Amino acid sequence: KVYTDYFFDEPAYNTHDGGYIPLVTPKIAPQPLAVPPLLKPDKQTATDDYYTVTAEASETQFLPGKKTKTWGYNASFLGQTIVFRDGKHTHIDLRNKLPELTTFHWHGLNVPGPITDGGCHAPVYPGKTNHIDFDVDQPAATTWLHAHPCPSTATQVWKGLAAMVLIKDDVEDQLPLPRNYGVDDIPMVLQDREFHEDNQFDYRVDYDPDGVQGHTALVNGTVNPYFDVTTQRVRLRLLNGSNRREWRLHFDDGLEFAQVASDGGIMPTPVYLTKLMVTCAERDEIVIDFGNYQPGDEVTLMTDETPLVHFRIKAFAPDDTQLPEHLVDIPDETPTPGLPVRKITMDGMDEEVAMDGKKFDMQRIDARQKVNDVAIWEITNTNSTENGMVHPFHVHGTQFTVLARNDGPVYPNEHGWKDTVGVNPGETVRIKVRFKLTGVYMYHCHIIEHEDGGMMAQIEAYDPAHPKTYHLMDMETL
Ligand code: C2O
Ligand code: CU
Ligand code: CU
Repeated sequence: KVYTDYFFDEPAYNTHDGGYIPLVTPKIAPQPLAVPPLLKPDKQTATDDYYTVTAEASETQFLPGKKTKTWGYNASFLGQTIVFRDGKHTHIDLRNKLPELTTFHWHGLNVPGPITDGGCHAPVYPGKTNHIDFDVDQPAATTWLHAHPCPSTATQVWKGLAAMVLIKDDVEDQLPLPRNYGVDDIPMVLQDREFHEDNQFDYRVDYDPDGVQGHTALVNGTVNPYFDVTTQRVRLRLLNGSNRREWRLHFDDGLEFAQVASDGGIMPTPVYLTKLMVTCAERDEIVIDFGNYQPGDEVTLMTDETPLVHFRIKAFAPDDTQLPEHLVDIPDETPTPGLPVRKITMDGMDEEVAMDGKKFDMQRIDARQKVNDVAIWEITNTNSTENGMVHPFHVHGTQFTVLARNDGPVYPNEHGWKDTVGVNPGETVRIKVRFKLTGVYMYHCHIIEHEDGGMMAQIEAYDPAHPKTYHLMDMETL
């Protein structure tokens, strides 16, 4: 079966927002797609990996003329790609060379909150270095690192503080998937920006409480990229790294592709699609088979009507590898008996956004869940179905499964691990959540301006045998 429609509710697309900013087709000639280099470990042993991640200010050449002032991780914009291995103990020095405090949030990583996780309780002050270490304990996946200081996550990500973080494991190693980084395994961070005078970003001018957008699409920071296809099969690791924009992806000739992974790793079965909508913070890995093209052909990945990436077909060796029907097993854990369903609402739009009717408070624990309990959460988007928006609901420190949408089936590509799920206006999405590690974890809308605006709360995963009190920062002591 090939799905030929987007799954989300059409009336809720961001194109219907009052402040929607359409992408424009870039006027500059296509440029080679930037592929971020892999971050070199400082040291590696059989059991341990050591990295230094530096947040730094620099300048980036996006457009002809003046360079743009930007921030990045070991890079001028975005970051070098970090690779973790399941089972390894990983040590990271977090260096802040920026003029203001930042945090290093590992979005999609099962690591303890609130400090290692790098949400708003884990500031790294300018000129300082913090150290974290943790066990990588989860399946192979495409995750990411981004800044998360409250309430300036949106401005820091807009400046460039976002990087891909890949997790590798023995299971994924065995699957017939492309995995030659930069050749047939390509990270693609999808973002949009507005370029003002002298090619500079100006977040304040562009500000919209429902999410900042710009007219220019960037893929890994490249305007109007092309990619040379030198293998028949290419795997894309798509990350919606935009503050607000949704990407509705399809090829200009309707080429079909296979989605093989969602946020938290490989899906049980590949899902064949011609259209894919990626909401904020979601990741999707797709495998494209270019076997029916000839050298010299070009096929373009589009978002709505705007060209995004030009794939230029070069000569390649034939490859008749087929994807197996079954990829991995996702355990179907039984919910812990006797637990009430946790009901959560995502409320409002603009300045009025809230979670459960309340604005985020760094000092308030909004909910508690026993570590290793398997709980059902029901998330309702209370926006009106006529003019509401899709709110991407994200939980820190774990991967969940999606059980139902309005008591009905989930989308065909939601049968794997997720950490972010788009909730349509008026819809209730049921998920199953287990925290394996004690700590305090944020959950929020991943339209970053909604998160900064207060559509966020936090839950303590506790162990009754080892009660702990967490040091929660507040805005004043920051
Ligand atoms: Cu992508 Cu609270 O994070
Ligand atoms: Cu996160
Ligand atoms: Cu939202």
